[in-house]
Amino acid sequence: MMVNTGFLQFIAILCLLMQGIVQCNGGLNSQFIASEAEALLEFKEGLKDPSNVLSSWKHGNDCCHWKGVGCNTTTGHVISLDLYCSNSLDKLQGHVSSALLQLPYLSYLNLTGNDFMQSRVPDFLGNMQNLKHLDLSHANFKGNLSDNLVNLSLLESLDLSGNAFYVNNLKWLQGLSSMKILDLSGVDLSSCENDWFHDIRAILHSLETLRLSGCQLHKLPTSPPPEVNFDSLVTLDLSINYFNSTPDWLFEKCHHLQNLNLSLNNLQGLIPYSIVRLTTLEILDLSKNSLIGSIPNFFDWLVNLVALDLSYNMLSGSIPSTLGQDHGLNNLKELHLSINQLNGSLERSIHQLSSLVVLNLAVNNMEGIISDVHLANFSNLKVLDLSFNDVTLNMSKNWIPPFQLENIGLAKCHLGPQFPKWIQTQKNFSHIDISNAGVFDIVPNWFWDLLPSVEHMNLSYNGLRSCGHDFSQKFKLKTLDLSNNNFSCALPRLPPNSRHLDLSNNLFYGTISHVCEILCFNNSLETLDLSFNNLSGVIPNCWTNGTNMIILNLAKNNFTESIPDSFGNLINLHMLIMYNNNLSGGIPETLKNCQVMTLLDLQSNRLRGPIPYWIGTDMQILEALILGRNSFDENIPTNLCLLKSLHILDLSDNQLTGPIPRCVFPAMATEESVNEKSYMEFLTIEESLSIYLSRSKHPLLISWKGADRSFHRGGRMFGYIKIIDLSSNFLKEGIPAEIGKLVELVGLNLSSNQLVGSIPSNIGEMESLEWLDLSSNQLSCAIPTSMVNLCSLGVLNLSYNTLSGNIPIGIQMETFDESSFQGNPHLCGSPLTKACLEDGNSWFKDKHCSDIEGSIEHESDDNHEDKVLGMEINPLYISMAMGFSTGFWVFWGSLILIASWRHAYFRFLSNLNDKIYVTVVVTLNKLQRKLHTQQPPM
Ligand SMILES: *[C@@H]1O[C@H](CO)[C@@H](O)[C@H](O)[C@H]1NC(C)=O
Ligand SMILES: *[C@@H]1O[C@H](CO)[C@@H](O)[C@H](O)[C@H]1NC(C)=O
Ligand SMILES: *[C@@H]1O[C@H](CO)[C@@H](O)[C@H](O)[C@H]1NC(C)=O
Ligand SMILES: *[C@@H]1O[C@H](CO)[C@@H](O)[C@H](O)[C@H]1NC(C)=O
Ligand SMILES: *[C@@H]1O[C@H](CO)[C@@H](O)[C@H](O)[C@H]1NC(C)=O
Ligand SMILES: *[C@@H]1O[C@H](CO)[C@@H](O)[C@H](O)[C@H]1NC(C)=O
Repeated sequence: MMVNTGFLQFIAILCLLMQGIVQCNGGLNSQFIASEAEALLEFKEGLKDPSNVLSSWKHGNDCCHWKGVGCNTTTGHVISLDLYCSNSLDKLQGHVSSALLQLPYLSYLNLTGNDFMQSRVPDFLGNMQNLKHLDLSHANFKGNLSDNLVNLSLLESLDLSGNAFYVNNLKWLQGLSSMKILDLSGVDLSSCENDWFHDIRAILHSLETLRLSGCQLHKLPTSPPPEVNFDSLVTLDLSINYFNSTPDWLFEKCHHLQNLNLSLNNLQGLIPYSIVRLTTLEILDLSKNSLIGSIPNFFDWLVNLVALDLSYNMLSGSIPSTLGQDHGLNNLKELHLSINQLNGSLERSIHQLSSLVVLNLAVNNMEGIISDVHLANFSNLKVLDLSFNDVTLNMSKNWIPPFQLENIGLAKCHLGPQFPKWIQTQKNFSHIDISNAGVFDIVPNWFWDLLPSVEHMNLSYNGLRSCGHDFSQKFKLKTLDLSNNNFSCALPRLPPNSRHLDLSNNLFYGTISHVCEILCFNNSLETLDLSFNNLSGVIPNCWTNGTNMIILNLAKNNFTESIPDSFGNLINLHMLIMYNNNLSGGIPETLKNCQVMTLLDLQSNRLRGPIPYWIGTDMQILEALILGRNSFDENIPTNLCLLKSLHILDLSDNQLTGPIPRCVFPAMATEESVNEKSYMEFLTIEESLSIYLSRSKHPLLISWKGADRSFHRGGRMFGYIKIIDLSSNFLKEGIPAEIGKLVELVGLNLSSNQLVGSIPSNIGEMESLEWLDLSSNQLSCAIPTSMVNLCSLGVLNLSYNTLSGNIPIGIQMETFDESSFQGNPHLCGSPLTKACLEDGNSWFKDKHCSDIEGSIEHESDDNHEDKVLGMEINPLYISMAMGFSTGFWVFWGSLILIASWRHAYFRFLSNLNDKIYVTVVVTLNKLQRKLHTQQPPM
């Protein structure tokens, strides 16, 4: 008997050891508790499981072997449930069933990354008193976090981050007396602004990690609360809040802090001296604040420092000599100083940094010539980013670097004119940006052969040549930018998994059938820019898999025949840009499906037929409709007036006839209100658009036909330029008086039509007008005197009409010369040479004109229409931004989900103004990485 039990025990222990590797036979350890298995199945009932993640959860099986279930091997009770999900396809969806209550020994519950459909945290969790670890992060919960967790006194880790929770108070934390790791990132704590610290203090004595990132916090107590004990605290994350300073006591109390994150706050002034107290610190992140002054000398006190991030501030001066191994910072591995105003000689500073693994100095004003000698000791270096500095890399021809880089960032450095040969020695890099680096050379074949591991490649703005490369096996390549070079060959086969492809501004020729290959391979493509090449032929009708496509630019090529029907499948397309081609036929009706279109530019083709009426109803967020220089005919559909966000309407140079629709485009009549919310939403798309457009040299925004003024996109963002150009058509009848309501309109061109009647007297109300061209019509009567109120007017052309009477006198009018008025035989007064009569009137009286100057035709019935169309602008930016984010740049998506992070991020962006371009471009990867560490990869 004794022997027997001993033997069984032996077997049991053996099984225990081998659990998970070998299935034991004979039911020796099938000790699972039937009621708990039932409870788990009931829990499963509450969930949709599209990818069958829980397929092992079946009646009759030992639940201890089910996926994600862990049991106590002695008692057989379920003690852990780990159902985290790391990708969007495998998400469990539904609600958390109270069946979990029948697992009384459950101590570990991890539901990260699933989708609980915006439900609240179930109250019953508060009764699961054996829970030690509860992780509900990024699981689409929302709502009020009340005190239902108060009794979980054994809880050691609680992660509620990345949901849409808010709380009224944190008093319930006081019950959680064993807490070691608390992550409330993304929980809105704004309504406990005054006592959040007081309540957290109660659990501080045991707390090792505290994360309150993106919690809408503004301030910490200015003096240390009594009995505050931070002795166990190792990690403190207060990033993405609104702190504008940190009280000195905070740093004095934290004796063991290793990791401090204050990035994305409003920290002002100098880097606080009290930081020297944190001698145990290993990681310090003060990035994305408004810190000024130079980098202080005292960092050498922080002898344990491993990573220092001061990027995105306004720091100036040079890199202090104390920052480096010569001063005992032997552990320092990562130094992030990008996007500041650091200057000085890099040659002088660089040797002290040679033990670094990551050196990021991008976007500063450093200068110098770096040669082999300077980098000879950098044997650990993996990330080198010197982009956007005035730095020359002058390496000897056969230099073999001591490092293997993963990330090569040398944009706008001086590398050329030869292609840098040392790159051939680098076998591991995944990111390379040598754009705008003065390289005028043939890309060597060895470079293309390195590519299997590259994910992101930017060679733009050089003078590169070479041909015959085939990217079709480059499965890792996600971003390929070869734009603005001299590549002169047939379009190469493209990387099959790419998201962003920019081959614009080269000399690529031939057809684009290779695009079809990648569209069929994967649905990953988001932006495709082939503009400004010599491509030709028919655009293939193969766009069935393009639902993630956001920007498609085929402008300035020689594509012929019609726009393919299958563009209608591109349901996320925001910009379709195909100006300057040879396209014919009409606009296919399938484009109706592209309901998030913001920019439709088909200018300068040979398109014909009527302008589709459904543009007004189905492309509701259109901002720019540019169909000029085609052969469209019939009337302008009045439906276009439904386009609430329209900023640019260019229908010039067509064969349109009938009247100008009598309505008000709301966006042209109303100033965008820059309240934070809409502005921030707006910015997502606005910035993307303007960044994109600033690169693509969109002609419409550069020159205004017939005027020698040009739009400088630098100052104005895309959305703020508001133009109507209906010139060179056969439009009839009068200029509708509604035009006076377009107070935000900057340019109006109605020239070369068949317009009659008088210029509406309220034209003086268009106070933003800078360009006005009404020439070559049959307009009559006097020039309204209100026109002298157009203070911004820089270009005026009223020539070749039948205007009569005197030219109104005003300062603004005196800036125009004769050419603005010529060809109106009955006009008189300065600047024309023909003088008026002595009483100031013209000798000519047009019988059709009323004496009361400024009669407005058809005024009686217009108010009605105004109201119908809604003068009040209801910005659609939110939906716009949403649509955009579904594909574009993963991080926008993350930002949209978590309101407080989003606001903080854009608050930050909007402070940067002209640096936005580099911000976005240079830091895209970094941000992505950051956000990915905070949430499971999508
Ligand atoms: C399993 O249960 C036994 C008996 O209650 C307990 O002593 C042991 O600590 C438990 N083991 C685990 C891993 O929870
Ligand atoms: C939950 O699972 C994720 C993914 O494995 C892991 O990163 C996280 O640390 C787990 N949470 C806890 C509390 O262990
Ligand atoms: C949130 O929950 C707390 C405690 O249950 C309650 O006092 C408060 O009114 C709730 N707030 C809202 C908005 O429901
Ligand atoms: C916590 O426990 C106390 C005492 O057992 C009980 O009165 C209270 O209702 C419990 N609170 C919750 C939210 O379960
Ligand atoms: C592409 O489209 C075809 C047919 O429309 C479909 O069968 C296929 O699964 C799609 N491929 C991808 C990667 O979406
Ligand atoms: C464009 O293509 C058409 C037809 O293939 C051809 O006749 C024309 O010369 C081409 N234009 C240019 C500028 O290459």
